[in-house]
Amino acid sequence: MQDFISIADIDRGKMDELLGLAAELKRESGQRNDLSGKTVALIFHKPSLRTRVSFEVGVVELGAHPMYVTDAEIKMGQRESTHDIGKVLSRYVHGIMIRTFAHSNCTELAAAADIPVINGLTDLNHPCQIMGDILTCIEHGKSMDNSVIAFIGDGNNVANSWVNAAGNMPFGLRIGGPSGYAPNETLLEAARAKGANIKLITDPVEAVTGADVIYTDVWTSMGQEDDTAERRRRFQPYQVNADLVGHAKDDVIVLHCLPAHRGDEITDEVMDGSHSVVFDQAENRLHAQKAIMVDLMGK
Ligand code: CP
Ligand code: NVA
Repeated sequence: MQDFISIADIDRGKMDELLGLAAELKRESGQRNDLSGKTVALIFHKPSLRTRVSFEVGVVELGAHPMYVTDAEIKMGQRESTHDIGKVLSRYVHGIMIRTFAHSNCTELAAAADIPVINGLTDLNHPCQIMGDILTCIEHGKSMDNSVIAFIGDGNNVANSWVNAAGNMPFGLRIGGPSGYAPNETLLEAARAKGANIKLITDPVEAVTGADVIYTDVWTSMGQEDDTAERRRRFQPYQVNADLVGHAKDDVIVLHCLPAHRGDEITDEVMDGSHSVVFDQAENRLHAQKAIMVDLMGK
């Protein structure tokens, strides 16, 4: 890999390799020196807990130095072009992780940079999230060859990366959400052209019936705050609550990328209940991202 921008850019073999490496790094848990002497810039245009902390800790555990950069400092595209920032950073650091709004900010940076760029969330995709999520599903006994994954809620960046993954792996993906909030049409078509088994379903009960994994995300993503009231109204029937979970398989696991808006897309009862694996999932961001960084920047 040269960059890690979208799961659609890699194949099943590379996903399995990264997941295997992530599991190995998790077992070893601790200091390795794969990135010894290197520096990784972490650029954030949006808030973050998991991405910020897991990347910073991961970089340190791999023997490198993390550099947190906010847009208040660099003003990407205003003070200086994204292209020039990519060129300049390539002279100082060995890799860049960026969390930003427009996906094109990430792809333009990667096109200009001579060093690897990792997508830490854009409006279109959240690929690091889905690598950690798949690691979590596998650890909890859910095969990516035949599980049914019901994504309930907004077809946004996280759902889009699940769509990309479904283009590489034969699990069944059901997207349960209101009309008008489906995942990106272009990504759906591309995944289906690769053989993805994806169903768009508006009935939440139908979407979760017999599912092995239920997944949800916030109803209002970062940058969409003006639509909060309308979204809360449209998504209310899609709340992941005990009643809905009761329609899935008895051993269903429930995932949420977090942050959760408890009482909106997921209830306390489910989030803190026996099916929930959300904190294992949060931890696995660290291991999955370390694997991605070793692959991109390791010796
Ligand atoms: N899931 C996730 O990316 O969390 P943060 O927004 O806190 O980084
Ligand atoms: N869809 C959410 C994911 C947060 C990790 C957002 O973009 O805000």
